[in-house]
Amino acid sequence: ADLTNLGLLKNHCNQNILIVGDGDLSYSLSLCRCLLNDYNVRVYCTTLDSRGKLLENYSRCAQIVECLESLRNVCVLHGIDGTNNGLIKEYMKKDKVQYFDRIVWNFPHLCGKSRIHKHRKLLLDFFKSSVEIIEPSEGQVWVALTKGQGGTPREPEYENLVKGNTWQIQYKAAQAGLIMTDVFNTDDSILKLHATGFRDGLGYSPRGFHNGDHTLNSKGGLCHVFSLPDMMKHSVYRLVWKYDLAYMVNPETFSFSFMGDVISILLQDPGIEFTISDVDVYQRPGVATLDKTSTIIFSSSTNAHLKYKGRDNNRFLIELKTALDNLALMSMEDYNFNCNITGQ
Ligand SMILES: C[S@@+](CC[C@H](N)C(=O)[O-])C[C@H]1O[C@@H](n2cnc3c(N)ncnc32)[C@H](O)[C@@H]1O
Repeated sequence: ADLTNLGLLKNHCNQNILIVGDGDLSYSLSLCRCLLNDYNVRVYCTTLDSRGKLLENYSRCAQIVECLESLRNVCVLHGIDGTNNGLIKEYMKKDKVQYFDRIVWNFPHLCGKSRIHKHRKLLLDFFKSSVEIIEPSEGQVWVALTKGQGGTPREPEYENLVKGNTWQIQYKAAQAGLIMTDVFNTDDSILKLHATGFRDGLGYSPRGFHNGDHTLNSKGGLCHVFSLPDMMKHSVYRLVWKYDLAYMVNPETFSFSFMGDVISILLQDPGIEFTISDVDVYQRPGVATLDKTSTIIFSSSTNAHLKYKGRDNNRFLIELKTALDNLALMSMEDYNFNCNITGQ
């Protein structure tokens, strides 16, 4: 599977592909040239820019659009925002398309100079919009990023990467409920796609951060593939979440194994593992209770941990406190657990 075939199967019928934010549409044309003879696909090639703006900005675009529009089962659309599926849903309805089998966005970028947190939000909004329109069991969302941007352990210089400077793609996808099932270097795919234009020069050249013919340096880029989780799918790298808790307990009745049992009951998912460890324990003079700060680290390769993420990040901790309090009331009179949420 690579960017020339999107891992599609030749003998499947009626597969729908949505290409998002495709600069001068050269990826769309190259992909169509790779797929259309052998695969039964309908391809929606989209840009955020209007057609007028595209023709103004990209010198090859008029030719590319003409070629695309001469192809069967290809639809060229403009003004499509990858973070808001409202408009594309209207086209889906009109064409009786229920879901997309693939949604692809190569080198998403807010044009101009932008902060990292805005790009994280761009990815998150794109993933949230995409999960509503991908086929739930086999559908995939593909995102290519330049070297170092994604911040997964697959980055060639991961050890030296300042994690706070990356777009944290795996975690943005997880927030929308997706797990990363594949990740690969894009160099070979881009060469092959570029070569589809050997006759007319219309092959894929990734376009730059600024609008216009400026080429983007894609060398060493990675394509990240995401799916909705089920027990058959595993993410390439485990997702890890860390919670710090500050709380007060009666040392005679409290134990980590008790807390662990409560957490397991709350999670109801053997696919999520966790460890609990003390960061700090303090015994105030003259008081029977202990002040503790502990870290719980959750990890999973099958669960995007959605249950406790999303709108209310602290819901899990509140549920944990309530469960411990309730259990304590039933079994231990002098049990006391005050959970102060100090972070995540
Ligand atoms: C670095 S360029 C890459 C263009 C193209 N995908 C390629 O590989 O050549 C980033 C593209 O993202 C588009 N873009 C930015 N925000 C977008 C959004 N919210 N929805 C769709 N496209 C967007 C821009 O218009 C631009 O074409």
